[in-house]
Amino acid sequence: MCRMRGEFTEGHTGPSRVPGVSGGTRGATTGPAHRQSAATCVTTVVGVTSAAGTGRRRQDAVYRAGVYGRHPRVPTVYRALAREARRRLDARAYGYVAGGAGDEDTQRADRAAFDRWAVVPRVLRDVSRRDTSVELFGRRLPAPLLLGPVGALELVHPEADLAVARAAASIGVPMVFSNQASVPMETTAAAMSDSPRWMQLYWSTSDELVESLLGRAEASGCDAVVVTLDTTMLGWRPRDLDLGHLPFALGKGIAQYTSDPVFRRLVEERAAAAGARDPQPRPTLAAVRALVGMARAWPGSLVENLRSPLPRAAVETFLSIYSRPSITWADLAWLRERTRLPIVLKGVLHPDDARRAVEEGVDGLVVSTHGGRQVDRSIAALDALPDVVDAVDDRVPVLFDSGIRSGADVLVAVALGARAVLLGRPYAWGLGVAGEDGVRQVVEDVLGEFDLTLGLTGHTAVDQLTREVLRRR
Ligand SMILES: Cc1cc2nc3c(=O)[nH]c(=O)nc-3n(C[C@H](O)[C@H](O)[C@H](O)COP(=O)(O)O)c2cc1C
Repeated sequence: MCRMRGEFTEGHTGPSRVPGVSGGTRGATTGPAHRQSAATCVTTVVGVTSAAGTGRRRQDAVYRAGVYGRHPRVPTVYRALAREARRRLDARAYGYVAGGAGDEDTQRADRAAFDRWAVVPRVLRDVSRRDTSVELFGRRLPAPLLLGPVGALELVHPEADLAVARAAASIGVPMVFSNQASVPMETTAAAMSDSPRWMQLYWSTSDELVESLLGRAEASGCDAVVVTLDTTMLGWRPRDLDLGHLPFALGKGIAQYTSDPVFRRLVEERAAAAGARDPQPRPTLAAVRALVGMARAWPGSLVENLRSPLPRAAVETFLSIYSRPSITWADLAWLRERTRLPIVLKGVLHPDDARRAVEEGVDGLVVSTHGGRQVDRSIAALDALPDVVDAVDDRVPVLFDSGIRSGADVLVAVALGARAVLLGRPYAWGLGVAGEDGVRQVVEDVLGEFDLTLGLTGHTAVDQLTREVLRRR
């Protein structure tokens, strides 16, 4: 395939970007449409016919660039990728993304659960043509993969959600906008043409704000709303606690709020009520930096914002309303009445909750431990998946995240019944290492390995992946 400028180290003598290849891939059946033009590009430049399938095209691109002494900027293996990100990021940014709840036992369990499954490859089947696409809420997606919601991405790269959106759209993989994004959803959506996107919601204590966010998600062309249920309160996160670091308190990751008319009204009311009684922080260097960060997060001129009480009031308002621990099943009906979008519940781990969710009329579930960031010593997400899938009994799609690091992981989760998986930390590290190109490379690597593993295990379509493909180790 035709590689993006800057993906490989050591000069740019290889193929460059094909104009007009980015954009949506509605109706794709064997992968994003732009890959065909990209493959043609490789054919033209290198003079060799490109192999079929995402995986072989990805290998072609890497190995051909290698002939000219270049290699990928972003490590292909997750552990090396995380190490490279750590080298580049400051301690607070790295700690925020890498960290989990408590002793981080859940994070380890999420990974260890994958180690207990083995794929049993089959041979002598014609796997020359493979279809990695799946259907989800009326859309055909190039692969069973979405980019999950990851908040405060400005910590790892200044282009944050915009870089992720551009990378996702160039491949046709859906992006789930985080409620804690660093860029307003309207701006991110505008960068995606008609490529698929969903919106993730944290249930605020202000119903009016929830309603406003839902309306904006619909207007931004989102295909579904993902309600994250495992974060009604922030988990106990020692890495952040030890650094005294919460991005939102510095005005980072609150762009969906500061761009919202309801939230802005609440901020103005709060600032008016506080008035002169609001104590000013002591003017230490850290306090000044924090105030500048908050002023940047508030729309308008930085100079005016530095004089205005609104940026600080915005942070205070956010901290007081961002989530509501009192939500119950009864609240779902309220949500149902306020949006026509499919409602997907994220963070379901118990089969009884899954059954109840289906009975309450939700449209999909995400089995997730939130990457081990909320409850330490939780059941691993992959261990919870089969029971949830059985409880749901095909009535709604079950998605999965927490621990997906490679294409082979995608295959295992799909074989255990996930309709699709959400990628999290790997693309955040890709963003930190090489911005938009880094995200694109990480996603293409995962998709490439998935395609090859599908074929190398004797399969040509995603729906052939069942539990029969796996054995317990
Ligand atoms: C830095 C970071 C920020 C996250 N922010 C959100 C968020 O705003 N909303 C949400 O629903 N999940 C959020 N998540 C959870 C992810 O959507 C996903 O569940 C998790 O990353 C899966 O674990 P993994 O990345 O280790 O595979 C975040 C995860 C990370 C690592």
